Amino acid sequence: MPLWDSRWRKALDKTFEKFSFSLSFDKRLWKDDLLGTCAHLLTLKKAGIIKEEEWEILKEGIIKLWNRISNNLDIIKGAEDIHTFIEENLTKSIGDLGKKIHTGRSRNDQVSLDLRLYLKRESCKIADLLISLMEEFLSLSKLYLNTPMPGYTHLQHAQPVTLGHYFLAYYEMFQRDLERLEDCYKRIDVLPLGCGALAGSTIPLDREYTAKILGFERVAENSLDAVSDRDFVIELLFVISLTFLHLSKFSEEIILWSTQEFSFIELPQEYSTGSSMMPHKRNPDLAEHIRGKAGRILGNLLGFMAVMKGLPLSYNKDLQEDKELIFDALDQLKLALQVLIGFLPKLKFKEERMYELAKNSFLFSTDVAEYLTIKGIPFREAHKIVGEIIKYCEENRKGLEDLTLEEWQKFSPLFTEEILELFSPEKSIYLKKTLGSPNPLLNQRIIEKKYDFLQKKKLLWDSHKETLPTLEEILNL
Ligand code: ARG
Repeated sequence: MPLWDSRWRKALDKTFEKFSFSLSFDKRLWKDDLLGTCAHLLTLKKAGIIKEEEWEILKEGIIKLWNRISNNLDIIKGAEDIHTFIEENLTKSIGDLGKKIHTGRSRNDQVSLDLRLYLKRESCKIADLLISLMEEFLSLSKLYLNTPMPGYTHLQHAQPVTLGHYFLAYYEMFQRDLERLEDCYKRIDVLPLGCGALAGSTIPLDREYTAKILGFERVAENSLDAVSDRDFVIELLFVISLTFLHLSKFSEEIILWSTQEFSFIELPQEYSTGSSMMPHKRNPDLAEHIRGKAGRILGNLLGFMAVMKGLPLSYNKDLQEDKELIFDALDQLKLALQVLIGFLPKLKFKEERMYELAKNSFLFSTDVAEYLTIKGIPFREAHKIVGEIIKYCEENRKGLEDLTLEEWQKFSPLFTEEILELFSPEKSIYLKKTLGSPNPLLNQRIIEKKYDFLQKKKLLWDSHKETLPTLEEILNL
């Protein structure tokens, strides 16, 4: 039975009920709802609304319900939402005292609280997985620090890079994602409880005290905003979407690299599928799933922003749309990260094939132009000279490495013997002087710094985890 129906004379239409009730998806907030209820009851006790003896009874009831649900999640049914379910079931087990639970509280501040508690916990899980993935990328970059491959712009051969440098590029994206998550966490970490339906309460609820019990960093300072703010959901959806977008870009590389045309990798059998009709196939399903899900999750972000854009203050039932979208995004991201962490170490790289392509001497044309520039020729002019050399090579079906010193010197007298040695991918990458280039010596140092960075981030997220409330801790207060 709904919590609000004392004025109603007719039962709800069954189809409307199905349309409107949220228990089927908000039941996963049951722990958060019980923890929030504990903190609220303690705050009511501090305000003199609940007596010590009453608290003892309520406490027993909460522990019993917690255990009942833990033993069998299927008992969560038959209510409008998780808040109603918890209140009804507590009341059933402790009797009349249950009627005090909702004092000074509305489901409007309650649902925001539950969601924030849930998202704080989930953010910690995402951070852990992201850090593991980043470690995987670092170990691959270390392993392939010296493995040349062609680098691309416009998907055309551009300049030699290393496979390690490629992995470091993706690492950078995930590092930004992790930092964004860290920042977004600050805005999730705000307590809405105590804001009531929209205008707070006449009961002197010590909200700082509630925040302390539940491990929140701050207390929301405007009741109208607190019950209607879902920016934190949008932000987290954005962080997840952007992470997915990066995963999807990487998946696209995997898909391309596994084609016969590229042939840069061999897909692990455990993570690929065959064809029901073509016996020779090995398909990159894992990467395709990630690429596909990224599209769906971007849709969740846009969809929820569209829900929010026209809502007046304060609580509106439209807000109920938040949960399925963010839950879906979190579930899919956790799976995608887990599956990729297992997949990456099993990938086989065809280094000879990459080397073969990285050897194409035209990939060194920029190095040649810079060679002239270092000897004093303005770059634009050097670019032109090398352009002519490439034209000459194309007309004579030669690579740069086939030219004799006499041929080189026809284009510029500044070319000396060293130019003949320039055309190896290893040489090209080791000659790079700029920080952030594929030079393995520079990357080596960068990788070490990144390992330190990840250690610091682990400590930070461990400290967040320590602030997450547990039932035992709250009840022993
Ligand atoms: N199921 C609702 C939601 O997810 C809970 C809050 C309901 N509040 C209300 N006034 N009907 O937003």
